[in-house]
Amino acid sequence: MAGPVVVIVGAQWGDEAKGRVVDLLASRAGMVVRYQGGPNAGHTVINARGTFKLHLVPAGILTPQVTSVIGNGVVIDPRGLLGELEMLRGAGVTTEGRLIVSDRAHVIMPYHRLLDTLDEEERGGARIGTTGRGIGPAYMDKVARRGIVMGDLLYNDLLVEKVRANVARVNRQLTTLYGRQDTLDADALVEELHGAARHLAPYIADSRAAIQAAIAAGWPVILEGAQGALLDVDFGTYPYVTSSSPAAGGACIGSGIAPTQITRTVGVYKAYCTRVGGGPFPTEMAEEMGNRVRTLGNEFGTTTGRPRRCGWFDAVAARYSASLNGFSSMAVTHLDVYDTLDSVRICTAYRINGELVETMPSMPHLLDLAQPVYEEVPGWQASTVHARQYSDLPTNAQRYLRRLEEVTGIPTSVITVGPERDEALVLQDLLAPA
Ligand code: GDP
Ligand code: IMO
Ligand code: MG
Repeated sequence: MAGPVVVIVGAQWGDEAKGRVVDLLASRAGMVVRYQGGPNAGHTVINARGTFKLHLVPAGILTPQVTSVIGNGVVIDPRGLLGELEMLRGAGVTTEGRLIVSDRAHVIMPYHRLLDTLDEEERGGARIGTTGRGIGPAYMDKVARRGIVMGDLLYNDLLVEKVRANVARVNRQLTTLYGRQDTLDADALVEELHGAARHLAPYIADSRAAIQAAIAAGWPVILEGAQGALLDVDFGTYPYVTSSSPAAGGACIGSGIAPTQITRTVGVYKAYCTRVGGGPFPTEMAEEMGNRVRTLGNEFGTTTGRPRRCGWFDAVAARYSASLNGFSSMAVTHLDVYDTLDSVRICTAYRINGELVETMPSMPHLLDLAQPVYEEVPGWQASTVHARQYSDLPTNAQRYLRRLEEVTGIPTSVITVGPERDEALVLQDLLAPA
């Protein structure tokens, strides 16, 4: 019988703790697949093996029996990937024979990082606040049908030809559009790719075929999303989004799994909200409360170290995310961060130009005008860190969680109360057969 396929999706603006939720579930999985994004992601996992900050390699790598896959929908910086493999090796985690890198995944070239920075400079005050990892320009080349894929690293003639054509074009762009004197040397870039290819070649393969074989063999498969649904290039707060499709729909295209093969889709929601970079954020907390929650939750970016903006739980955005992704359940993370607050807020609607709005506007600029309508609920002022069953949670924490279920319309399957692997309550067997 085909194994269950479970998609773990960030339900807000990223950093919901997707990596740690995947790590929590991985002991029962056979395969974990990243399906989009690139090293803009930073997934922190803390377990008995140490603290890991993963950018490209799926969190499944930390569980011995799991095969990890970097899917075709991901964009890869080969040097960054090598660094990550080295970091894992240093921590005693073997990757040989346990990691597959899609031959169809696109390569982030050094000029993509440069163009990312130049593009942001050009935007000035309207900058997106990207991670500067070259994500947008790499996906642009993919869509423009001139991208270099990981499989090209195995075919030298193809690689040289593609790099030369791309570098000639980028050099024209640098001199004419950005007025720069310095240009890039195609041969040096090819040399660098050769170096990376020597180490990465054993991992590069047809990942779609491997994933299908795993499902057919009955292995439970987890698809690990990066970023969050509200950063989705189609359905996020455009243009303040990333350049891929973190929403559950992206999981199919980014891995080569058919929609009918997905068993469950789990939305990872923080008990509050955070956002890094620019863009509308209706429930952003006032400075004092924002600083308090940032400190309590240690809300600083895994990839860039930037302080994250903190906000109250936004039920309008949460419902939208639930509907967009068809979540069968939610994982509510960081509940402990609220342990000391005497009351907390939930935004149940927006007021936009005087009108009460309960659904997400499709034109994101309207979100800039959105005034949140809050309901205030009592805090619990007790530690949740040691709770392992629902009944261990303080009554007001249980009330808060129930209210989140009511306002989102989805049941809770996982609750996390701290960053360590065991600081969690698993209420449902998410990897049960379909
Ligand atoms: P991801 O990008 O969605 O995987 O999330 P990040 O790793 O970027 O950010 C989540 C951060 O919160 C990490 O530093 C985790 O160690 C930490 N974390 C995860 N779960 C919890 C939790 O339940 N409580 C607290 N306080 N921290 C958590
Ligand atoms: P994980 O997987 C939070 C944000 C950036 C910026 C916008 C576009 O750790 O949840 P990009 O570099 O992708 O072009 O930047 O998206 N962003 C993230 N925010 N978590 C992430 O990943 C993010 N990846 C990108 O801050 O606002
Ligand atoms: Mg992150």
